Amino acid sequence: MTLNTRAPAPLWNPDEDETLVCCAVRAETHDVKTFIFQAVEPRRFAYQPGQFMTLSLTIGGEEIHRCYTLSSSPTRPDRVSITVKRIGEGPVSSWLHANLAPGTSIKALGPMGDFFCTAEAGSKYLFLSAGSGITPLMSMTRSHHDLGSGADIAFVHSARSPADLIFRDELALMAKTAPGLTVTAICEADSEAEVWAGPRGRIDLAKLEAIVPDFRAREVYICGPAPYMAAVKSMLEASGYDMARYHSESFDFAELSADQPEPESASSNQGFKVEFKLSRRTIEVAPDRFILAAAKAEGMRLPSSCTKGMCGTCKCKLVSGTVDMTPAGGIRQREIDQGMILICCSKPTSDLVLER
Ligand SMILES: Cc1cc2nc3c(=O)[nH]c(=O)nc-3n(C[C@H](O)[C@H](O)[C@H](O)COP(=O)(O)OP(=O)(O)OC[C@H]3O[C@@H](n4cnc5c(N)ncnc54)[C@H](O)[C@@H]3O)c2cc1C
Ligand code: FES
Repeated sequence: MTLNTRAPAPLWNPDEDETLVCCAVRAETHDVKTFIFQAVEPRRFAYQPGQFMTLSLTIGGEEIHRCYTLSSSPTRPDRVSITVKRIGEGPVSSWLHANLAPGTSIKALGPMGDFFCTAEAGSKYLFLSAGSGITPLMSMTRSHHDLGSGADIAFVHSARSPADLIFRDELALMAKTAPGLTVTAICEADSEAEVWAGPRGRIDLAKLEAIVPDFRAREVYICGPAPYMAAVKSMLEASGYDMARYHSESFDFAELSADQPEPESASSNQGFKVEFKLSRRTIEVAPDRFILAAAKAEGMRLPSSCTKGMCGTCKCKLVSGTVDMTPAGGIRQREIDQGMILICCSKPTSDLVLER
């Protein structure tokens, strides 16, 4: 027997490392692909199951940032994967589907995010997802499966049709081999190739009670499109479920931004002048107000996602002026040194010019 005595690869350092190289692409369904990445030099990725990375891509001469949950599990640290649904004319998801191939390099920030779950022995969970919202729950389930966590997980996934079921075979296999894991799919309709024999329609209380009778005793983790999330949240509230045990992630920018509290004294007509050079707009931003929130209130549409300084989506160059910024991992020190800021968590302390 030969022992492998090679030292483990160093950890991916989000402050230093930024280039991911695509090593494989897998078609999951007709409009969903998984992209698998490694670092340029060997690196191990340390993250929590459910966390995301922010990709930075230059498309049509413009730099665009988008967040993608790692669908891979941290238990297999040499690679990370994202699983992306192609959204109609959506610039990034369609670019990834059309162009990202083995050998392509992209820039990425993270992993980060506070929606994660390390399933614990003896605890009971209910994982609920719909559509591409399956990705964080898949990472959690893969991790649970690899570690033999001893947790009790009921995973209920909703899809339009059997042809839209992401990770169908792998989930079925994990449910067969991992004690404590049950997986149920609910489909709204048949697909061309398959008449759906499982639970039909949309998730409702009767279905949930039939599939997971003890759901009130479980910690809920949920991710999916905004209407699905809203419907399930109301359903759980009405059922008497203890909402302190409800954890959710949204992929929807508008919904995330809506959570951002506004300072009570916020006022956009007193304060510093903030000029958006590329948009050719100048607005007034009160010193106690975040620039992004003030710009949105003025009707400007600017790239943003988490609105909490985490994801890097709102990053832009500060051409002149000073700000009070409270980032939470979404920007590297060297980017700050180069004059970049996150406008979602920056308040002006002088008049500003931004390259946005
Ligand atoms: C924390 C986080 C994690 C994410 N993880 C994933 C992931 O694992 N897989 C994934 O495919 N996407 C994920 N997204 C969404 C992703 O960041 C992009 O928004 C998505 O790929 C569309 O980008 P786009 O540039 O093609 O279109 P955009 O111009 O960004 O979006 C076009 C329209 O589609 C809506 N939309 C965006 N994403 C979805 C979706 N998944 N389903 C339905 N409508 C959507 C947008 O609200 C917008 O109205 C995540 C978003 C966040 C904030
Ligand atoms: S929107 Fe996420 S860092 Fe600003």
